Amino acid sequence: MIYRRRDVRAQFTGAPVPEDVLERVLAAAHAAPSVGLSQPWDFIVIESVRTRKAFSDHVGHERALFASTLSGDRAARFTQIKIDGVMESTLSVVVTYDSQRGAPGVLGRHSIADAGLYSACLAIENLWLAATAEGLGVGWVSFYRERMVQDLLGIPDGIRPVAWLCLGPVTHHEAVPDLERHSWAHRRPLRQAVHREAWRPAGQGRAAGPA
Ligand SMILES: Cc1cc2nc3c(=O)[nH]c(=O)nc-3n(C[C@H](O)[C@H](O)[C@H](O)COP(=O)(O)O)c2cc1C
Repeated sequence: MIYRRRDVRAQFTGAPVPEDVLERVLAAAHAAPSVGLSQPWDFIVIESVRTRKAFSDHVGHERALFASTLSGDRAARFTQIKIDGVMESTLSVVVTYDSQRGAPGVLGRHSIADAGLYSACLAIENLWLAATAEGLGVGWVSFYRERMVQDLLGIPDGIRPVAWLCLGPVTHHEAVPDLERHSWAHRRPLRQAVHREAWRPAGQGRAAGPA
């Protein structure tokens, strides 16, 4: 499942997601670990075409802004890359983060405030894997301004939209990430990401420091 999972943009069919399937996917997200058992997430399920269209227009605007920062080969490459399937997917799930849940005194968060946000991301990964196991696709869209999404969905101040996820049946899951297929970016080999005993710059053999 971990290797089958893909960020999906272009393969959504728009077919319905049965309620029991959606329930299992959300239950998997809700089963994620969280700092101090704070479960700081909420899930906003959006089917409304009008709401998704408003978001999609905003994404288009943000896409254009990002495109304007590119030039040459990068700019040309970016025009080929689809960055969301908001309208083609069956529904959207917005995952939010409430830093006040369980506060004050969230066990394990006193020195790392971001541990709450990490917890919300684990819920997202659980959702992503569970959806993949159900044969569904998920696409994470981050081309947005938090204020816009808060206003659109009536999210109270202090609660952050962490992810806009497109969800639904797909024709297939690609074997290779879109960004790699478009030569935008490439995955690093595992050995470059693994450090033994201490941090070391890539390609410099064993870490300095105590044996
Ligand atoms: C935090 C986060 C934000 C992302 N935002 C976007 C996005 O706005 N648009 C998009 O097309 N993909 C987005 N992605 C998907 C990544 O591009 C994708 O995960 C990566 O290229 C690896 O591909 P894979 O997920 O298919 O393995 C996002 C992924 C993460 C984790």
